Amino acid sequence: MESGYPVPVELAPYVNSNSIVVRSPGRINLIGEHLDYNSGFVLPAAIDKAVYVVVEKQDPPFYSLHSVDFNETADIPVADVKPAFGHWYTYILGVVAQFNATGRSVPPFKMAVYGDVPLGAGLSSSAAIESAAAFSINELFGYGSDRLQLVKMAQLAEHEYAGVKCGIMDMFASVFGKKGQVIRLDCRSLEYAYFPLDLQGYEIVLIDTQVKHSLASSEYNVRREQCEAGVAMIQKKYPAVQSLRDATMAMVNECIPQDDIIYLRCKYVVEEIERLVTGCADLERGDVAAFGRKMYRTHEGLSKEYGVSCKELDYLADFVAAHPEVIGARMMGGGFGGCTINIIKKEAVEPLINELLPLYKRDMGLELKYYRVNIEEGTSRI
Ligand code: GLA
Repeated sequence: MESGYPVPVELAPYVNSNSIVVRSPGRINLIGEHLDYNSGFVLPAAIDKAVYVVVEKQDPPFYSLHSVDFNETADIPVADVKPAFGHWYTYILGVVAQFNATGRSVPPFKMAVYGDVPLGAGLSSSAAIESAAAFSINELFGYGSDRLQLVKMAQLAEHEYAGVKCGIMDMFASVFGKKGQVIRLDCRSLEYAYFPLDLQGYEIVLIDTQVKHSLASSEYNVRREQCEAGVAMIQKKYPAVQSLRDATMAMVNECIPQDDIIYLRCKYVVEEIERLVTGCADLERGDVAAFGRKMYRTHEGLSKEYGVSCKELDYLADFVAAHPEVIGARMMGGGFGGCTINIIKKEAVEPLINELLPLYKRDMGLELKYYRVNIEEGTSRI
């Protein structure tokens, strides 16, 4: 199905009667951070920043990959698909490898890529490019994979070709997003439900620290291992516990010594699962203020217990907490940089940012950016 989104002018020169154009968005996540790989719940949505690809078949036995943003072309021999860590095209090769691994040897193609998802800002530009590649290759060669299969291929591409053992949230949000709706995804059963986000005079604003996170080389995989270590400790006493989703705070208190760092990691996760469940109920009741308070608490947990914040993210969260027109805020995504997500009274956005800009520059030495976010459709042909 084709959507009404326009082809970006930057990609127009690559479009012809044989090509397919696909748009795949970045994502936000309202609450439920670092829960996807713990079989918990998440509450993401696709946004109005996206990666676009133009693909067509070609005869020369190469994948000819072109990035408009980097003005760079990589011709990868079809027989030579392997990770190119640190390069933008590794994500595309990772997806090709997934199709190949399921017995569909992907024939040569040409792909041009352009995007306006800020890189390293925690908005999942990598999931967006993986999802765009998976969707477009599936369409170009008529492979007939469904959306969930494409999501899983994109996730494995990230594991194997970017070295990040991410959960399923980012790709799921990119591929399954719906305009105006957030997705409540159960990462254990993969059951999901959409619901409209009514923020009653408030809006979502992302404030970008301009500190680029590097998940692969950072602590992300370590956090995942720490959670697994916590599960192993709990399992000794409670063998039925398969993930932190099954654990309670009582079990954590009983099985993990409080002076062990694993204790804090697990405490955060178990409490965040609870916050997400009650936070969704807040939104359903229309109690945006109660939801916002939970976001602040999530930030504290991510910063002090889960250890994935940084001084710039804490600075932004502290700054807005002193402003009553911001009813909720926290760091978003993997962490160590990127954006905070804020729920701000519409008319207060500009004055708040104007006050913050010079202070952030003075105190952190960086020029911050901000994005007023709209929730848009997930991956589609355009
Ligand atoms: C990154 C990962 C996701 C998720 C978030 C934290 O975005 O790619 O799978 O774990 O961090 O919620």
